[in-house]
Amino acid sequence: MSIHNVRLEVMQLLEKKIDTFVDQFLIPIETIWQPTDFLPNSQDENFFEEVRELREIAKDLPYDFWVTLVGDTITEEALPTYESWLMDVEGVDQIEANGWSKWVRNWTSEENRHGDLLNKYLYLSGRVNMREIEITTQHLIADGFDIGTGRDPYKNFVYTSFQELATYVSHNRVAQLAKTYGDNKLSKICKMIAGDEMRHHMAYSEFVNQIFKVDPSEMMLAFQYMMKQKIVMPAQFLRESGEKISSAFESFSDSAQRIGVYTASDYVDIMQKLINKWEIDKISDLTDEAEKARDYLMKLPARMARISERLVIPAESQIFKWVEPARI
Ligand SMILES: [Fe+2]
Ligand SMILES: [Fe+2]
Repeated sequence: MSIHNVRLEVMQLLEKKIDTFVDQFLIPIETIWQPTDFLPNSQDENFFEEVRELREIAKDLPYDFWVTLVGDTITEEALPTYESWLMDVEGVDQIEANGWSKWVRNWTSEENRHGDLLNKYLYLSGRVNMREIEITTQHLIADGFDIGTGRDPYKNFVYTSFQELATYVSHNRVAQLAKTYGDNKLSKICKMIAGDEMRHHMAYSEFVNQIFKVDPSEMMLAFQYMMKQKIVMPAQFLRESGEKISSAFESFSDSAQRIGVYTASDYVDIMQKLINKWEIDKISDLTDEAEKARDYLMKLPARMARISERLVIPAESQIFKWVEPARI
C-alpha cells in the first residue's frame, strides 16, 4: 500500500474518535469564556471610566512589549490562513460530513476569540496605531504562509503540536510581564488565551501520539522532516504598510527575544518537550531509516542549544509604524 493510502487509513481510524477529542480537549461554546468577559462592557454606564483606567495602566508598558503584543495579535488574526490550510490536509479534505472538519471548525471557533480579544484590548489601549496594524493583518492574510508541511497530516500535526506550545509560551510570558508592569487585566487576558493554547497543544500532540502507535516509522520520519527544516512561524511573511515582505518578522522576533517572551532557547525546549512527550527513545518496530531519524532527533536539541547560545540579538531594531502615533 502506498504511503499516501496508509495515511488516509490512519486518518480515518482517528476520525472515529473525533467526538471524544472534541469533548476531551475543547470546551463547550456555552460555557467557555468570551472576549467581552475581560473587557470593559460597552453597555455599562461605567464603560468610559473603565476604559480610562485601562489606558492609564497601559501607559507604563514599553516599546518592545507593544511590538510583541501587536505581532502576537496579528498572528492570531491571520486565522483564516490556518483554518483553510488545515481544512485541505489529506484526510480532512474539506468534506462537510468528515469528523476531521468538525475538529478543525471547533478548534477555529476557539482560536477566533484570541485575535478578537487582543484586537479589542489594543484598540482601547490608545497606545498603538490600529490602522497600521489592520493593514499588516490584511497583508498577512493576503500573503498566506508556507509551513513546509504540504497536505501531509503527520507533518501538519507535528507543526500544530509545536506551534500551539510556542503560542502558549509566548502568551504566558506576556501575561507575566504585564503583571510586573501592574497591568493585571491584560495579564488575565493573556493567561486565558495561553490556557486555550495549552489545551490545543495537548490535542494535537495526542493525535501524533496515536499515529505513533499505528504507523511509527512514517510518523518518525515526518517528525524528523519538520525538525530538520525547522518550524517557521505563522507570521513569517509579516510586513508593514507600503513595504514588501522584508525583515519585519525578524524585528518583531527580536523584540520578543529582548523581553524574553519567545527565544531561541524556547524553541529548543519545545523540541525537547515533544521528544519527551512522544517518548521517542522508546518507540519500537522502526525501519532502519526511521531508526536513523530517531537518532538524529534525540541528538538535535543539544546541537541546537549550542547554536542558540551563540546567537546575538540586536539591541535595537526597526521602529514599527504599529506603535507610532496615528497620522491625522
Ligand atoms: Fe491562538
Ligand atoms: Fe493556537
